[in-house]
Amino acid sequence: TNLAVFASGNGSNFQAIINAINANELRAKICLLVCDKRDAYSIERAKQAGIPTFVFTAKEYESKAAYEQEIVTILQENKVDLIALAGFMRLIGPTLLEAFRGKIVNIHPSFLPLFPGKDAVGQALHANVEKTGVTVHFVDEGMDTGPIISQQEIDITLGETRESLEKKIHDVEHELYVKTLQSLIHI
Ligand code: GRF
Repeated sequence: TNLAVFASGNGSNFQAIINAINANELRAKICLLVCDKRDAYSIERAKQAGIPTFVFTAKEYESKAAYEQEIVTILQENKVDLIALAGFMRLIGPTLLEAFRGKIVNIHPSFLPLFPGKDAVGQALHANVEKTGVTVHFVDEGMDTGPIISQQEIDITLGETRESLEKKIHDVEHELYVKTLQSLIHI
């Protein structure tokens, strides 16, 4: 399976995928990192792992359709068959969705359908709930709305801080994403 990872930021999930492939826990090859931020640490991780990158600046294009068309062409050239969004902070539009229907997955730091969208961790903390979680789902045209593939709950304990909760969420994410991606790969 030829995997492309899309990331905008730090890329700890991207790193977890790289590590799982190196450890033979995930039978895939990452053929491309797609990144929309020139200074993202994800790009450094790709370099260190020898993974080619496509870095773009959205505002240099006329439209979402224009940059997505360029991405689609590159993905097709690389024979990508699965796309994993890992902290990619842009809504996927019809151009990419139609070209890779049912082949785009995302990881989101809440127990969806609760707390979709930006800052799901902050949303959960402010809502004073006892549990949040992590969800892996197929991507559709909505914001964190596609069919759920896997989920794991996480307790919010007394005195939980944003920092401590983010750490718990990331630890769960790294394991759940790798497991879920492997479950989608049939060799
Ligand atoms: C993760 O919490 C993921 O669920 C969300 O964005 C964050 C990315 O973190 N979509 P990282 O860049 O993988 O460290």
